[in-house]
Amino acid sequence: MDNIILIGFMGSGKTAVGKKLAKKTGREFIDIDAEIVKREGMPIKKIFEDYGEKYFRKAETETARIILKKKNRVVAAGGGIVVKKSNISLLKKGGTVVYLKNSFLRSAERLKGKTDRPLFTDLKKARQLYNSRLGLYEKAADIKVFTDKKTVSMTADAVKKKTEGSGCGQ
Ligand code: S3P
Repeated sequence: MDNIILIGFMGSGKTAVGKKLAKKTGREFIDIDAEIVKREGMPIKKIFEDYGEKYFRKAETETARIILKKKNRVVAAGGGIVVKKSNISLLKKGGTVVYLKNSFLRSAERLKGKTDRPLFTDLKKARQLYNSRLGLYEKAADIKVFTDKKTVSMTADAVKKKTEGSGCGQ
């Protein structure tokens, strides 16, 4: 089966939905951020602090490339993967790209109290980042699913239905 790749802003539920979706569709779940953490041997926050965003983005591309070599996966990407143009073609070649679209407020709600996202520490800056990314997610996506009013399970069902309709199940 072809890969399903989940993209969207921080706090859109890519990991939670991805795990559910993997179970529902019989695919293996893999999270690009979690793989980066394993490969680098430190949390994302520390990678940003010690080496900077540029280094993280390089690791992100390398890790995505390796992960997308295999099929039959649900892949959760980090929210910033769409920032590099070449990553968008990498994702498109790697499977069906699904944009989990939520409002900024929903992301802020989900991430309240969390301190592990270096690019979501200040609400005003995070909102600017959200706005600047919207067009990129649209550009990268084959399919879009709105998540604000859905539970994780409902979102996973919606993604399953839409990807099956697009021929991704074969
Ligand atoms: C980032 C999103 C994070 C993580 C890193 C940078 C971004 O992933 O990759 O903190 O630039 O939006 P999640 O979207 O899974 O939080």
